[in-house]
Amino acid sequence: MPSPTGDPFLLTPGPLTTAIETKEAMLHDWGSRDAGFIETNARVRQRVLAIANAADTHVCVPMQGSGTFAVEATLGTLVPRQGKSLILINGAYGKRMAKILDYMNRAYVTLETPEDSAPDPDDVDAILADDGDISHVIMVHCETTSGILNPVEKISEICAGHGRSLIIDAMSAFGAIQIDAKKIRFDAVMASSNKCLEGVPGMGFSIIRKTSLEDCKGNAHSLSLDLFDQWQAMEANNQWRFTPPTHVIAAFAKALDLYEAEGGQPGRLARYAANCKILVDGMRDLGFKTLLPDQLQAPIIVTFHMAADPKFDFQRFYDGLKDKGFVIYPGKLTVADSFRIGCIGQLGETEMNGALEAVRQTLSEMGVTSGAPA
Ligand SMILES: Cc1ncc(COP(=O)(O)O)c(C=O)c1O
Repeated sequence: MPSPTGDPFLLTPGPLTTAIETKEAMLHDWGSRDAGFIETNARVRQRVLAIANAADTHVCVPMQGSGTFAVEATLGTLVPRQGKSLILINGAYGKRMAKILDYMNRAYVTLETPEDSAPDPDDVDAILADDGDISHVIMVHCETTSGILNPVEKISEICAGHGRSLIIDAMSAFGAIQIDAKKIRFDAVMASSNKCLEGVPGMGFSIIRKTSLEDCKGNAHSLSLDLFDQWQAMEANNQWRFTPPTHVIAAFAKALDLYEAEGGQPGRLARYAANCKILVDGMRDLGFKTLLPDQLQAPIIVTFHMAADPKFDFQRFYDGLKDKGFVIYPGKLTVADSFRIGCIGQLGETEMNGALEAVRQTLSEMGVTSGAPA
């Protein structure tokens, strides 16, 4: 099934399939001091804040690079050098934040739960009650390793009750799953231009409580990743300190137009939820089993157990789908053999049904009659 550009559809956690208009928005060159570019940049920052209903309390500080750059910049800027954090881990992206703090030599403890279970808010409550040194709780919203949705609202209430700061890696959920700064108290939410906002990759951003960021001068471990400095410079003249990802920002502005035209967060969530349902129902009909029960599944990316049939070979399955125009993703779980199929990006009913048809055909080519796991 061909996409408008002839490229395969990306049913992955990103980079994702983007709209043709978003790609076309990059067909120009801008100087970093170009007035039109500066205005676009300022508008993009405002629009991102509006998605989180955070314009009164927070600022949006963008960062060049992939999402991890924004995560590392946020942790380096906000977590005090002498502070202590609690990191909630149930997958690779929680673990990555621990690794980031290791690089910076900043103290932390972890609450680790299995990849198919969300952290228990009562456990977080007990840890915070017990350890008054913990200043920051750090968690992932949708842990893309499995696709699980973690309970940010409840954890945020607990953090607020104990007077601790909350930092949320919402990379794979932001824009589709609501985070409203008026309802969820957080010091920072990190996300990227790609993922659910459907821009092109190359830029992350952090939505940071202004009063917290004001206290962070000189705290960062790195010049290029210093979000206080990035913010101050951008507030002064709306320019980036170093070469801006001009094309990424232009594409992001167009992607935000399309996002708003789709009805913003509720509209985007509705399309992704419909995609997820088509996918999960169709795969279950073929015998496949999801890792997660439906109530823990975010409509972002779905992990399926590997089929037990000895004729099922993942590389052949992957290649067969790719030949038919659909790219999926290997699993990232440490506990079970699995693969993942994403529901996000410029994909709708037609593409999801096309992907299922490609799965059916590929199974039949391999002689596999059921996707059931062992
Ligand atoms: C939850 C989460 N955090 C962080 C990242 C890292 O983003 P990147 O690969 O763009 O550095 C990802 C990427 O998928 C993610 O899903």
